[in-house]
Amino acid sequence: MDTYPSLKAAVDFINKLKNEFNWQISSRDTLMDIGCGKTFYCSQAIVNLFPDFKCLIAIDKNADLLQWRPRENKRFENLHKSNIIKLLVADVEDSTFFENYIDSVDKIVSRNVLYHVKNKIKALRNIYKTLKPGGAAAILFWLDNPIGTWTTEILSMRKWSSFVDDSKPRPPYFPSKYRETYYRAEMEALGCQDIHAVTKSIPCSYESDKECLGELLEIVDDLINIPPTQIKEFEEDCLDIFKGLVGCINGGPITFNIMECFLHIVK
Ligand SMILES: C[S@@+](CC[C@H](N)C(=O)[O-])C[C@H]1O[C@@H](n2cnc3c(N)ncnc32)[C@H](O)[C@@H]1O
Repeated sequence: MDTYPSLKAAVDFINKLKNEFNWQISSRDTLMDIGCGKTFYCSQAIVNLFPDFKCLIAIDKNADLLQWRPRENKRFENLHKSNIIKLLVADVEDSTFFENYIDSVDKIVSRNVLYHVKNKIKALRNIYKTLKPGGAAAILFWLDNPIGTWTTEILSMRKWSSFVDDSKPRPPYFPSKYRETYYRAEMEALGCQDIHAVTKSIPCSYESDKECLGELLEIVDDLINIPPTQIKEFEEDCLDIFKGLVGCINGGPITFNIMECFLHIVK
């Protein structure tokens, strides 16, 4: 699940930090990409947009994802070989891991990660304590996305859960209980010098049930093996649950909003 699953979207994100938040990165700077994912989009965008830095630490909770290297990014490959890019397995909620990085990182990005994290405040505290004084972090995550809720619901339905392939990691989804004002207050309490916190509502729609169903099935395709005789029933459940979640039960286009939170903090 990714609102904008592409390298271009990550490049736009890093460019926004450069242009709107005046991110400048020099050869003395240490950077961290938390929840880098198997495509390393933000790390790749950093490599593409900043000519020089001391070190880029790309972290993910899932060790399997860190095996892959962006094949067409020679610069990334060379920086990794020369240990300027380091790939580490860690959980953003693990305070013990971050104890080793207190006040040590100049810039942190964490894009589309915190909706997988239950204790977002713990994660944000770890990010804050890792920053050097004067360092900045940019964090983007969904506060709420009906597709995330739908995925959790359909895979845990008693009727279908026995067909879930447990060998495949199922990305957890934790919608936020709070709006951006809560995170702002928490960041203020920690002592951030500067906080920018905004919630954006992203309107989404499907023209038809077929289009909606196609996207929903794609999300769970790898995770569940439904017997052919039950596929029709499964598809009906998929649509019914989703329509129920977004309040679209009387036909017409399926419309909903994704709520996305952007936090920029300076320590
Ligand atoms: C949707 S991907 C985002 C990847 C990347 N940040 C991007 O912008 O394309 C979410 C990533 O967060 C990782 N993740 C989830 N929970 C995490 C946690 N608690 N600590 C660190 N990484 C986590 C997942 O393994 C996954 O690779």
